[in-house]
Amino acid sequence: MTGVDTGLPADAGPALPEPRGDLSAGVVAALAGEPGGLPPPGEAVRAEPYGDDLQLALYVLYELHYRGFSGVPDRAEWDPDLLRLRREAEDRFFTALRAELPDGPGVEETLGALLVEPADRGNSVSHYLQRHGELWQLQEYAALRSLYHLKEADPHLWVIPRLNGRAKAAMAAVEFDEFGAGRAEEVHARLFADLMADLGLRTSYGYYLDSACAEVLATVNLMSLFGLHRRLRGALVGHFATVEATSSPGSRRLAQAMRRTGAGPAAERFYDEHVEADAVHEQVVRREVVGGLLADEPHLAPDVVFGVRATGLLEERLGRRLLTAWRAGATSLRAPLAVAPGS
Ligand SMILES: [Fe+2]
Ligand SMILES: [Fe+2]
Repeated sequence: MTGVDTGLPADAGPALPEPRGDLSAGVVAALAGEPGGLPPPGEAVRAEPYGDDLQLALYVLYELHYRGFSGVPDRAEWDPDLLRLRREAEDRFFTALRAELPDGPGVEETLGALLVEPADRGNSVSHYLQRHGELWQLQEYAALRSLYHLKEADPHLWVIPRLNGRAKAAMAAVEFDEFGAGRAEEVHARLFADLMADLGLRTSYGYYLDSACAEVLATVNLMSLFGLHRRLRGALVGHFATVEATSSPGSRRLAQAMRRTGAGPAAERFYDEHVEADAVHEQVVRREVVGGLLADEPHLAPDVVFGVRATGLLEERLGRRLLTAWRAGATSLRAPLAVAPGS
Protein backbone atom coordinates (compact mmCIF):
# COMPACT_ATOMS: atom_id res chain seq x y z
CA MET A 1 0.00 0.00 0.00
CA THR A 2 1.30 3.43 -0.91
CA GLY A 3 1.16 6.53 1.27
CA VAL A 4 -2.26 8.10 1.28
CA ASP A 5 -2.44 11.72 0.30
CA THR A 6 -6.15 11.60 1.28
CA GLY A 7 -7.27 13.01 -2.05
CA LEU A 8 -8.41 16.09 -0.22
CA PRO A 9 -5.82 18.86 -0.52
CA ALA A 10 -6.95 22.17 0.93
CA ASP A 11 -4.64 24.33 -1.19
CA ALA A 12 -3.82 23.42 -4.80
CA GLY A 13 -6.54 21.85 -6.94
CA PRO A 14 -5.87 19.42 -9.79
CA ALA A 15 -4.18 20.51 -13.02
CA LEU A 16 -6.38 21.67 -15.89
CA PRO A 17 -7.01 18.79 -18.30
CA GLU A 18 -5.97 18.36 -21.93
CA PRO A 19 -8.71 19.77 -24.20
CA ARG A 20 -10.67 17.42 -26.46
CA GLY A 21 -12.05 19.90 -29.02
CA ASP A 22 -12.80 23.58 -29.60
CA LEU A 23 -15.22 23.97 -26.72
CA SER A 24 -13.02 22.45 -24.04
CA ALA A 25 -9.96 24.16 -25.53
CA GLY A 26 -11.66 27.54 -25.14
CA VAL A 27 -12.66 26.81 -21.54
CA VAL A 28 -9.21 25.55 -20.54
CA ALA A 29 -7.48 28.50 -22.25
CA ALA A 30 -9.79 31.00 -20.55
CA LEU A 31 -9.18 29.43 -17.14
CA ALA A 32 -5.43 29.38 -17.74
CA GLY A 33 -5.58 33.09 -18.56
CA GLU A 34 -4.41 32.49 -22.13
CA PRO A 35 -5.49 34.63 -25.08
CA GLY A 36 -8.07 33.29 -27.48
CA GLY A 37 -11.10 33.62 -25.33
CA LEU A 38 -14.19 31.49 -24.96
CA PRO A 39 -16.07 30.02 -27.88
CA PRO A 40 -18.72 32.41 -29.22
CA PRO A 41 -22.35 32.00 -28.13
CA GLY A 42 -24.06 29.19 -30.00
CA GLU A 43 -21.04 26.89 -30.34
CA ALA A 44 -22.07 24.59 -27.49
CA VAL A 45 -25.50 24.24 -29.04
CA ARG A 46 -23.94 22.55 -32.06
CA ALA A 47 -21.65 20.19 -30.12
CA GLU A 48 -22.31 16.45 -29.81
CA PRO A 49 -24.22 16.33 -26.48
CA TYR A 50 -22.56 13.15 -25.16
CA GLY A 51 -19.21 13.69 -26.85
CA ASP A 52 -15.81 14.19 -25.26
CA ASP A 53 -15.55 17.90 -26.05
CA LEU A 54 -18.86 19.03 -24.57
CA GLN A 55 -18.70 16.66 -21.60
CA LEU A 56 -15.17 17.77 -20.70
CA ALA A 57 -16.02 21.48 -21.08
CA LEU A 58 -19.04 20.97 -18.83
CA TYR A 59 -17.06 18.92 -16.32
CA VAL A 60 -14.41 21.64 -16.03
CA LEU A 61 -17.01 24.39 -15.64
CA TYR A 62 -18.86 22.41 -12.97
CA GLU A 63 -15.63 21.67 -11.14
CA LEU A 64 -15.31 25.40 -10.43
CA HIS A 65 -18.17 24.88 -7.94
CA TYR A 66 -16.29 22.07 -6.14
CA ARG A 67 -12.52 22.38 -5.75
CA GLY A 68 -11.49 24.32 -8.85
CA PHE A 69 -8.12 23.86 -10.55
CA SER A 70 -4.56 24.71 -9.72
CA GLY A 71 -3.71 28.25 -10.84
CA VAL A 72 -7.33 29.21 -11.56
CA PRO A 73 -8.66 32.08 -9.42
CA ASP A 74 -11.59 31.18 -7.17
CA ARG A 75 -13.65 34.03 -8.58
CA ALA A 76 -13.85 32.23 -11.95
CA GLU A 77 -16.73 30.29 -10.35
CA TRP A 78 -19.09 33.25 -10.89
CA ASP A 79 -17.62 34.69 -14.09
CA PRO A 80 -20.65 35.64 -16.24
CA ASP A 81 -19.08 34.55 -19.53
CA LEU A 82 -18.19 31.13 -18.12
CA LEU A 83 -21.69 30.81 -16.68
CA ARG A 84 -23.17 31.70 -20.07
CA LEU A 85 -21.18 28.94 -21.70
CA ARG A 86 -22.02 26.49 -18.92
CA ARG A 87 -25.68 27.16 -19.42
CA GLU A 88 -25.46 26.54 -23.16
CA ALA A 89 -23.54 23.30 -22.66
CA GLU A 90 -25.84 21.97 -19.97
CA ASP A 91 -28.94 22.90 -21.97
CA ARG A 92 -27.54 20.85 -24.84
CA PHE A 93 -26.92 17.88 -22.52
CA PHE A 94 -30.25 18.19 -20.74
CA THR A 95 -32.28 18.56 -23.93
CA ALA A 96 -30.65 15.45 -25.40
CA LEU A 97 -31.51 13.44 -22.28
CA ARG A 98 -35.08 14.70 -22.27
CA ALA A 99 -35.50 13.75 -25.91
CA GLU A 100 -34.34 10.20 -25.17
CA LEU A 101 -36.50 9.85 -22.08
CA PRO A 102 -40.04 11.00 -22.67
CA ASP A 103 -42.55 10.41 -19.88
CA GLY A 104 -42.00 7.17 -17.99
CA PRO A 105 -44.06 5.07 -15.58
CA GLY A 106 -45.00 6.15 -12.04
CA VAL A 107 -42.56 6.68 -9.16
CA GLU A 108 -43.41 3.44 -7.31
CA GLU A 109 -43.03 1.33 -10.41
CA THR A 110 -39.79 3.07 -11.39
CA LEU A 111 -38.19 2.71 -7.96
CA GLY A 112 -39.46 -0.86 -7.57
CA ALA A 113 -37.76 -1.83 -10.84
CA LEU A 114 -34.39 -0.73 -9.43
CA LEU A 115 -34.57 -3.49 -6.83
CA VAL A 116 -35.06 -6.25 -9.38
CA GLU A 117 -31.86 -7.93 -10.50
CA PRO A 118 -31.36 -7.47 -14.27
CA ALA A 119 -32.38 -10.50 -16.32
CA ASP A 120 -29.47 -9.81 -18.65
CA ARG A 121 -26.36 -9.73 -16.46
CA GLY A 122 -24.18 -9.55 -19.53
CA ASN A 123 -24.27 -5.76 -19.40
CA SER A 124 -23.63 -5.38 -15.67
CA VAL A 125 -20.14 -4.16 -14.77
CA SER A 126 -20.36 -5.38 -11.17
CA HIS A 127 -21.44 -8.87 -12.29
CA TYR A 128 -18.55 -8.95 -14.75
CA LEU A 129 -15.97 -7.80 -12.20
CA GLN A 130 -17.30 -10.19 -9.56
CA ARG A 131 -16.77 -13.21 -11.82
CA HIS A 132 -14.00 -12.28 -14.24
CA GLY A 133 -12.46 -9.01 -13.05
CA GLU A 134 -8.67 -8.86 -13.05
CA LEU A 135 -6.66 -6.47 -10.96
CA TRP A 136 -5.92 -4.14 -13.87
CA GLN A 137 -9.65 -3.86 -14.59
CA LEU A 138 -10.38 -3.07 -10.95
CA GLN A 139 -7.68 -0.40 -11.11
CA GLU A 140 -9.26 1.12 -14.20
CA TYR A 141 -12.71 0.99 -12.65
CA ALA A 142 -11.51 2.75 -9.49
CA ALA A 143 -9.58 5.38 -11.48
CA LEU A 144 -12.70 6.22 -13.50
CA ARG A 145 -15.06 6.20 -10.54
CA SER A 146 -12.67 8.37 -8.54
CA LEU A 147 -13.99 11.40 -10.41
CA TYR A 148 -17.14 10.97 -8.37
CA HIS A 149 -16.10 8.99 -5.31
CA LEU A 150 -13.43 11.49 -4.24
CA LYS A 151 -16.29 13.96 -3.93
CA GLU A 152 -18.84 11.34 -2.96
CA ALA A 153 -22.19 12.80 -1.85
CA ASP A 154 -21.06 16.40 -2.49
CA PRO A 155 -23.43 17.15 -5.41
CA HIS A 156 -26.40 15.76 -3.48
CA LEU A 157 -25.79 18.12 -0.59
CA TRP A 158 -26.88 21.05 -2.76
CA VAL A 159 -30.48 19.86 -2.68
CA ILE A 160 -30.91 20.22 1.09
CA PRO A 161 -31.84 23.95 1.13
CA ARG A 162 -34.50 23.14 -1.47
CA LEU A 163 -36.23 20.48 0.67
CA ASN A 164 -38.55 20.72 3.65
CA GLY A 165 -39.58 18.68 6.69
CA ARG A 166 -39.27 14.90 6.32
CA ALA A 167 -37.36 15.05 3.05
CA LYS A 168 -34.81 17.53 4.42
CA ALA A 169 -34.31 15.67 7.71
CA ALA A 170 -33.87 12.29 6.02
CA MET A 171 -31.57 13.63 3.30
CA ALA A 172 -29.37 15.24 5.95
CA ALA A 173 -29.30 11.97 7.93
CA VAL A 174 -28.09 9.92 4.95
CA GLU A 175 -25.56 12.58 3.96
CA PHE A 176 -24.28 12.58 7.56
CA ASP A 177 -23.32 8.92 7.08
CA GLU A 178 -21.72 9.64 3.69
CA PHE A 179 -19.57 12.30 5.37
CA GLY A 180 -18.34 9.93 8.05
CA ALA A 181 -20.86 10.68 10.84
CA GLY A 182 -18.45 13.16 12.40
CA ARG A 183 -15.24 11.17 11.82
CA ALA A 184 -12.86 12.39 9.11
CA GLU A 185 -11.30 8.95 8.60
CA GLU A 186 -14.76 7.51 7.84
CA VAL A 187 -15.79 10.06 5.18
CA HIS A 188 -16.71 7.89 2.20
CA ALA A 189 -14.49 9.96 -0.12
CA ARG A 190 -11.62 9.15 2.26
CA LEU A 191 -12.51 5.44 2.29
CA PHE A 192 -12.34 5.56 -1.50
CA ALA A 193 -8.94 7.24 -1.42
CA ASP A 194 -7.81 4.36 0.84
CA LEU A 195 -9.20 1.87 -1.69
CA MET A 196 -7.25 3.60 -4.46
CA ALA A 197 -4.07 3.42 -2.43
CA ASP A 198 -4.56 -0.35 -1.99
CA LEU A 199 -4.87 -0.61 -5.77
CA GLY A 200 -1.66 1.35 -6.27
CA LEU A 201 -3.47 4.37 -7.73
CA ARG A 202 -2.81 8.07 -7.20
CA THR A 203 -5.32 9.37 -4.69
CA SER A 204 -5.19 13.09 -5.38
CA TYR A 205 -8.46 14.73 -6.33
CA GLY A 206 -9.21 14.82 -10.06
CA TYR A 207 -5.96 13.07 -10.98
CA TYR A 208 -7.56 10.73 -13.54
CA LEU A 209 -9.58 13.33 -15.42
CA ASP A 210 -7.50 13.00 -18.60
CA SER A 211 -7.98 9.22 -18.50
CA ALA A 212 -11.75 9.38 -18.27
CA CYS A 213 -13.98 8.76 -21.29
CA ALA A 214 -17.00 10.94 -22.05
CA GLU A 215 -19.34 8.26 -20.67
CA VAL A 216 -17.83 8.64 -17.18
CA LEU A 217 -17.83 12.43 -17.37
CA ALA A 218 -21.51 12.36 -18.29
CA THR A 219 -22.40 10.36 -15.17
CA VAL A 220 -20.69 12.94 -12.96
CA ASN A 221 -22.00 15.92 -14.94
CA LEU A 222 -25.52 14.61 -14.47
CA MET A 223 -25.20 14.90 -10.68
CA SER A 224 -23.75 18.40 -10.89
CA LEU A 225 -26.51 19.48 -13.28
CA PHE A 226 -29.24 18.15 -11.00
CA GLY A 227 -27.53 19.45 -7.86
CA LEU A 228 -26.93 22.99 -9.05
CA HIS A 229 -30.44 23.72 -10.32
CA ARG A 230 -33.29 24.16 -7.88
CA ARG A 231 -35.76 23.43 -10.66
CA LEU A 232 -34.21 19.95 -10.94
CA ARG A 233 -34.53 19.05 -7.24
CA GLY A 234 -36.93 16.23 -8.09
CA ALA A 235 -34.44 14.77 -10.57
CA LEU A 236 -31.62 15.05 -8.00
CA VAL A 237 -33.70 13.08 -5.51
CA GLY A 238 -34.40 10.51 -8.23
CA HIS A 239 -30.68 10.25 -8.88
CA PHE A 240 -29.91 9.78 -5.19
CA ALA A 241 -32.62 7.13 -4.86
CA THR A 242 -31.07 5.23 -7.78
CA VAL A 243 -27.59 5.35 -6.29
CA GLU A 244 -28.76 4.14 -2.90
CA ALA A 245 -31.07 1.44 -4.27
CA THR A 246 -28.51 -0.11 -6.60
CA SER A 247 -25.44 0.35 -4.43
CA SER A 248 -25.90 -2.46 -1.91
CA PRO A 249 -26.08 -5.47 -4.29
CA GLY A 250 -23.49 -3.91 -6.64
CA SER A 251 -21.14 -3.26 -3.72
CA ARG A 252 -21.45 -6.88 -2.57
CA ARG A 253 -20.24 -8.04 -5.97
CA LEU A 254 -17.41 -5.51 -6.08
CA ALA A 255 -16.29 -6.46 -2.55
CA GLN A 256 -16.08 -10.06 -3.75
CA ALA A 257 -14.03 -8.97 -6.75
CA MET A 258 -11.62 -7.11 -4.45
CA ARG A 259 -11.30 -10.16 -2.16
CA ARG A 260 -10.81 -12.59 -5.02
CA THR A 261 -8.01 -10.51 -6.54
CA GLY A 262 -6.35 -9.76 -3.19
CA ALA A 263 -6.70 -6.02 -3.80
CA GLY A 264 -6.26 -5.22 -0.11
CA PRO A 265 -8.24 -4.55 3.06
CA ALA A 266 -9.15 -0.93 2.34
CA ALA A 267 -10.32 -1.91 -1.16
CA GLU A 268 -12.64 -4.50 0.39
CA ARG A 269 -13.71 -2.16 3.16
CA PHE A 270 -15.11 0.58 0.89
CA TYR A 271 -17.54 -1.82 -0.75
CA ASP A 272 -18.29 -3.83 2.42
CA GLU A 273 -19.27 -0.57 4.11
CA HIS A 274 -21.70 0.21 1.27
CA VAL A 275 -23.37 -3.21 1.41
CA GLU A 276 -24.54 -2.51 4.96
CA ALA A 277 -25.05 1.24 4.87
CA ASP A 278 -26.88 1.46 1.57
CA ALA A 279 -29.35 -1.27 2.41
CA VAL A 280 -30.53 1.13 5.15
CA HIS A 281 -30.10 4.27 3.02
CA GLU A 282 -32.27 2.82 0.27
CA GLN A 283 -35.17 2.45 2.67
CA VAL A 284 -34.76 5.91 4.16
CA VAL A 285 -34.39 7.62 0.79
CA ARG A 286 -37.37 5.87 -0.72
CA ARG A 287 -39.76 6.32 2.21
CA GLU A 288 -38.67 9.67 3.64
CA VAL A 289 -36.76 11.63 0.98
CA VAL A 290 -38.84 10.65 -2.07
CA GLY A 291 -42.02 10.18 0.00
CA GLY A 292 -41.51 13.45 1.87
CA LEU A 293 -40.71 15.45 -1.26
CA LEU A 294 -43.74 14.15 -3.13
CA ALA A 295 -46.03 14.72 -0.13
CA ASP A 296 -44.94 18.38 -0.24
CA GLU A 297 -44.69 18.74 -4.01
CA PRO A 298 -46.61 15.98 -5.82
CA HIS A 299 -46.11 17.71 -9.18
CA LEU A 300 -42.42 16.71 -9.04
CA ALA A 301 -43.16 12.99 -9.52
CA PRO A 302 -42.26 13.02 -13.26
CA ASP A 303 -38.96 14.75 -12.41
CA VAL A 304 -38.08 12.05 -9.85
CA VAL A 305 -38.77 9.42 -12.52
CA PHE A 306 -36.67 11.35 -15.04
CA GLY A 307 -33.78 11.48 -12.55
CA VAL A 308 -33.91 7.71 -12.06
CA ARG A 309 -34.12 6.97 -15.78
CA ALA A 310 -31.40 9.44 -16.82
CA THR A 311 -29.07 7.90 -14.25
CA GLY A 312 -29.85 4.41 -15.56
CA LEU A 313 -29.34 5.45 -19.17
CA LEU A 314 -25.90 6.98 -18.58
CA GLU A 315 -24.77 4.10 -16.36
CA GLU A 316 -25.82 1.62 -19.02
CA ARG A 317 -23.78 3.46 -21.65
CA LEU A 318 -20.77 3.56 -19.39
CA GLY A 319 -21.14 -0.15 -18.67
CA ARG A 320 -21.27 -0.95 -22.36
CA ARG A 321 -18.12 1.06 -23.01
CA LEU A 322 -16.18 -0.62 -20.19
CA LEU A 323 -17.28 -4.15 -21.00
CA THR A 324 -16.65 -3.77 -24.74
CA ALA A 325 -13.08 -2.72 -24.02
CA TRP A 326 -12.39 -5.30 -21.32
CA ARG A 327 -13.86 -8.22 -23.25
CA ALA A 328 -11.47 -7.34 -26.05
CA GLY A 329 -8.60 -7.29 -23.53
CA ALA A 330 -8.20 -3.55 -24.10
CA THR A 331 -8.01 -0.60 -21.75
CA SER A 332 -11.19 1.39 -21.10
CA LEU A 333 -9.14 4.52 -20.41
CA ARG A 334 -8.11 7.35 -22.71
CA ALA A 335 -4.58 7.46 -21.33
CA PRO A 336 -2.42 4.75 -19.77
CA LEU A 337 -2.83 4.31 -16.04
CA ALA A 338 -0.09 5.76 -13.86
CA VAL A 339 0.09 3.11 -11.21
CA ALA A 340 2.25 4.07 -8.24
CA PRO A 341 5.62 2.31 -8.10
CA GLY A 342 5.95 -0.55 -5.68
CA SER A 343 2.28 -1.51 -5.78
FE1 LIG B 1 -21.23 6.22 0.32
FE1 LIG C 1 -25.28 5.59 0.84
